[in-house]
Amino acid sequence: MYLLIPAAGSGKRMGGDRNKLLLTLLDQPVLWWTLKAAIASDAIEWIGIICQPVDRPDFEEIVGILNSPKPVAFIQGGDTRQESVYNGLQALPDGAQRVLIHDGARCLATAELFDRCASVLQGCAGLIAAVPVKDTIKVVDSSNGGGDRPEVASTPDRSKLWAAQTPQGFEVATLKDAHARGIREKWTVTDDAALFEKCGLSVRIVEGEEANLKVTTPQDLAIAEFILRQRHPEI
Ligand code: CTP
Ligand code: MG
Repeated sequence: MYLLIPAAGSGKRMGGDRNKLLLTLLDQPVLWWTLKAAIASDAIEWIGIICQPVDRPDFEEIVGILNSPKPVAFIQGGDTRQESVYNGLQALPDGAQRVLIHDGARCLATAELFDRCASVLQGCAGLIAAVPVKDTIKVVDSSNGGGDRPEVASTPDRSKLWAAQTPQGFEVATLKDAHARGIREKWTVTDDAALFEKCGLSVRIVEGEEANLKVTTPQDLAIAEFILRQRHPEI
């Protein structure tokens, strides 16, 4: 199974002056933890890291430290996650039929989750890891002059709501078509599954992991470090 890791963001919401994937958790960069799980997954045989040129030397150093027995390629990132994944898809080796896509910022995903997604992907064209939401979610309408206090428009039935994670997995040719159509029709999406859905294609759910958070804010970094400390009392 091929794996693409979008890692070309800048981490604006983290508020630092460099890519958040270079911040450390238990003394190792966020991307180190993500890659460690991907390397430990039996199903993954090739890894493509999508990154900005400015980060590439640091990322190469991380890959060197991990001494990956699997080939690791570096691919030029884009201005948005959508563009970054598009670039990643074009850079897949010939013959790649299926691909998992996993955000570099989801550094707590386990090797078992990669393996589970890879296995389910043998029997479908599109999937996402996801977990049922715990909060009651409100649809808020800020268009009617609510100002600082926008109004609640509705409350979707929580039993139907799932929080999307990565890995997400797809047939390569079908996802490439969906991305090409997204460009033609100027769709803006925050994950690849949304392109599949807009094309009317089926996306299956694989049970995700509650701890598989996306490190986005300084608070997420603190929570991620707490979880890693529980998992690695030896460090
Ligand atoms: N990403 C990417 N290319 C971009 C933007 C984001 O490959 N142009 C990657 C990020 O590196 C991250 C993943 O997509 O691993 C999810 O994005 P997000 O959590 O939003 O990260 P950032 O875009 O870096 O953070 P922010 O939105 O706060 O700036
Ligand atoms: Mg972003």
